[in-house]
Amino acid sequence: MNRFDASSTTDHVIEGISLAGKLAVVTGASSGLGVETCRVLAVAGATVIMVARNEEKLRAAEQELLRERPGAKLHTQCMDLADLTSVRNAAAEILLNHSRIQLLINNAGVMACPLLRTEQGFEMQFGTNHLGHFLFTGLLAPALIEGAPGRVVNLSSAGHKFARFDFDDHSYKHRKYEKWQAYGESKTANVLFSIGLDLRLRERGVRAFAVHPGAIMTNLSRHMQEEDFASLMEYRPTDKPLVFKSVPQGAATTVWAASTLELAHRGGIYLENCQIAQPAEEGGEDGVEDYAIDAAEAERLWSLSEALVGQSFEF
Ligand SMILES: NC(=O)c1ccc[n+]([C@@H]2O[C@H](COP(=O)([O-])OP(=O)(O)OC[C@H]3O[C@@H](n4cnc5c(N)ncnc54)[C@H](OP(=O)(O)O)[C@@H]3O)[C@@H](O)[C@H]2O)c1
Repeated sequence: MNRFDASSTTDHVIEGISLAGKLAVVTGASSGLGVETCRVLAVAGATVIMVARNEEKLRAAEQELLRERPGAKLHTQCMDLADLTSVRNAAAEILLNHSRIQLLINNAGVMACPLLRTEQGFEMQFGTNHLGHFLFTGLLAPALIEGAPGRVVNLSSAGHKFARFDFDDHSYKHRKYEKWQAYGESKTANVLFSIGLDLRLRERGVRAFAVHPGAIMTNLSRHMQEEDFASLMEYRPTDKPLVFKSVPQGAATTVWAASTLELAHRGGIYLENCQIAQPAEEGGEDGVEDYAIDAAEAERLWSLSEALVGQSFEF
């Protein structure tokens, strides 16, 4: 156990750490936890490529950070994770200018949207939260290996407890759509992906982590209707009320995962409250479920994801 906990903020966990000389790529950099993550990485001296789909929001977020920290080393890159062509283009543009990356923060996400499909026809939460990031990471991996030691941080959620991954119907072609179940499946995929990625990259000096940031009031709830709050309670393993964190507290576990020396020789693990999570207990709101860290499921998801994006990744 370190000295951090659920109340720790980004400023607490980055204290005394310099990221000078490191290049960080952060998705979902136009809102919520992503903007805060970019802010702190930049303040610690990293060069940060802020990635988001909406150019106007992205520029506004960049300007906001520059107002606070003139001289921060920021770049921007547009990418829509719900379109694999856009992901390929964005990765190619980044690689054109940067041959070495040390930190990749796969933070973007969508939650509990109605049944929507990505450009290539995948269910939106699976397509955005997992598949787009899978392809983006695979394409950037050569630069991560070149820039090693490095880390990949995948934003998961305690929402992974809502559902194990459904290999038979990842995109709700054959069953009734349940928005929370789909969110849970995508967040389980984020953990399984972290396990599979760490296994493939650890010998090359790149480690991967899954993070639950906590419950934070951000734009993530934009799709939620009144009745979705009630149905959320049915999926949660406990009826204890949610305790909310501030945005700097919410982004703290991501920043800790990306920067702490404590994790220099770790990887393929799920983190929460700036700690390595314990196995989940029946009815508990913390911890990681067995099915989300199952090595065989992680391999199965890797193969499925390669097939769906139409590209194999050998590192
Ligand atoms: N907030 C929480 O309580 C909580 C809890 C557990 C896990 N998380 C996870 O934390 C991460 C960050 O969430 P947040 O709370 O900061 O939410 P947020 O404020 O809604 O930010 C989400 C970011 O993802 C981007 N995004 C969504 N769809 C995208 C797409 N198709 N292509 C590219 N970017 C896309 C959004 O872009 P736009 O601005 O253009 O929409 C935004 O920048 C998510 O992965 C979420 O699942 C959050």
